Amino acid sequence: MNLLEGIYTRRSIRQFTHQPVDRELLIEIIKAGIWAPSGLNNQPWRFVIVRSDEMRKELAKNTRYNFTIERAAACIAVFADKSVMYNDVKDHQSMGACIQNMLLVAHALGLGAVWLGEVLKNADAVRLLLSLPENMELMAVVAIGHPASDKHSSKRKNLSEVLLKEL
Ligand SMILES: Cc1cc2nc3c(=O)[nH]c(=O)nc-3n(C[C@H](O)[C@H](O)[C@H](O)COP(=O)(O)O)c2cc1C
Repeated sequence: MNLLEGIYTRRSIRQFTHQPVDRELLIEIIKAGIWAPSGLNNQPWRFVIVRSDEMRKELAKNTRYNFTIERAAACIAVFADKSVMYNDVKDHQSMGACIQNMLLVAHALGLGAVWLGEVLKNADAVRLLLSLPENMELMAVVAIGHPASDKHSSKRKNLSEVLLKEL
């Protein structure tokens, strides 16, 4: 899959089969996240792989997308390390780039994934569940698995709605 095809065919996947996902693939997804650009190359991202049924069940209690976390083969909780951050906006932008890389590579590997942000309402509870210190700020939970179906549509605004000017 080339990059353009990957960008245009990626969809948020929320339903998964029961097939497990190899650890190597999860590591590949994290490596893709690590290769995102970051301001001053400070690489603020930190990751926790959550695979066990027991832990995913606990994690799922923190979001109304609990079904997605429960059915996923694995989740990767993505944190920003506040102790290395230097600019709120720029560090959060770097984190977005990291998470997008992860989604694209999950797709390129034939997996399905979704960026879960609603769980941030319980960011502290998730951090404590994963026994992490206060400097770890939850950015997202990425749920990953083998897609239950390959029929997923998504819409985007027309270019004319978002392209403000061409000077
Ligand atoms: C910051 C952010 C937070 C999101 N949070 C959730 C979420 O909590 N639950 C969910 O199912 N999808 C979530 N999504 C996925 C979006 O709903 C999805 O990207 C959007 O509807 C477009 O669909 P597509 O990714 O299939 O193109 C989130 C995406 C982003 C970028």
